[in-house]
Amino acid sequence: MTKPSEKIVIFDTTLRDGEQSPGATMTHDEKLEIATMLDEMGVDVIEAGFPIASDGDFAAVSDIARNADRAVICGLARANLKDIDRCWEAVKHARQPRIHTFIGTSPLHRAIPNLTRDQMAERIHETVTHARNLCDDVQWSPMDATRTEWDYLARVVEIAIKAGATTINIPDTVGYTAPNESAELIRRLIAEVPGASDVVFATHCHNDLGLATANALAAVEGGARQIECTINGLGERAGNTALEEVVMALKVRHDIMPFTTGVDSTKLMAISRRVASVSGFPVQFNKAIVGKNAFAHESGIHQDGMLKNAETFEIMRPEDVGLNATSLVMGKHSGRAALRSKMKELGYDLADNQLVDVFVRFKALADRKKEVFDEDLIALMQDEERQS
Ligand code: KIV
Ligand code: ZN
Repeated sequence: MTKPSEKIVIFDTTLRDGEQSPGATMTHDEKLEIATMLDEMGVDVIEAGFPIASDGDFAAVSDIARNADRAVICGLARANLKDIDRCWEAVKHARQPRIHTFIGTSPLHRAIPNLTRDQMAERIHETVTHARNLCDDVQWSPMDATRTEWDYLARVVEIAIKAGATTINIPDTVGYTAPNESAELIRRLIAEVPGASDVVFATHCHNDLGLATANALAAVEGGARQIECTINGLGERAGNTALEEVVMALKVRHDIMPFTTGVDSTKLMAISRRVASVSGFPVQFNKAIVGKNAFAHESGIHQDGMLKNAETFEIMRPEDVGLNATSLVMGKHSGRAALRSKMKELGYDLADNQLVDVFVRFKALADRKKEVFDEDLIALMQDEERQS
């Protein structure tokens, strides 16, 4: 009998880490709308904001907590009692509330509050214990974990577990790690820290080297069972792991990564477009999964292959991510087969001899224009009909 696939918890932080991108601020209603979409598509945990940051953030987290049907609603808090209390006041309305508290543990980050290793360890014990007295579900993060000395990281993770944290998140705050290191760090923490097998390990990757998705999937190989991510990879600097990428990678390559998520992938395109619109951050054309060109083909060889069998150049179906169909972009690289098929779509059934002539005219037009749109083809056919 085959073993059932393990489920990966999808933790979306579009409304917290994503919204921290300079210029990506969303209104209260927009945040509520995005949270509802995330909840409906099966995201397991929604990090709704940073309640102490402003009254607006507090109100958004509280309202999202009240509205959510299925997801765990989480708020972020620094390692102090005031932040944690404020966070609890906002998330406590949720059916399933979570407090997420963090502190920077690497030497560079320890220097900011000017705490010694022992003082910071004491602070972690105190704040996680306090959070756990308020809420049964507590996540703790050592910020900049991937640049924290191994012995100190192992020590503080153990303290957080003993103080009651139920999820330990290992952030690659500055996108510094590489996939083999990402896997090994989680593997070693699980193997060597006492109590590690009683908690869920999470991975939280930034994309400064373009490795966020690879690092998150590698962490899963190492034993992480929660991936933190954002829609369109929205986030500070080069962004975070993109939710749509990890969800589709686990779906398409289930053969080598036997894990499932609860996310309905057919809702990915709609939420990607909505987040792009409310954040004001457009999605790059060639962005994996949700970019305008992710399911578009222009070269003649590709278009011909696609018309014969979509699997020749597509590893997932556009319907799986919520797109109606593959698009054959008509341009100078397109061939006869694509032109005939496109013309048919537009209502023109070209005979072989007519195709020869129309193809010559189409190529001349395509040489002048980057992309030949449906209206251009209709105008070309109208002209052709006038002349014949
Ligand atoms: O990148 C980071 O370290 C964070 C933490 C607050 C989890 O976003
Ligand atoms: Zn982050």
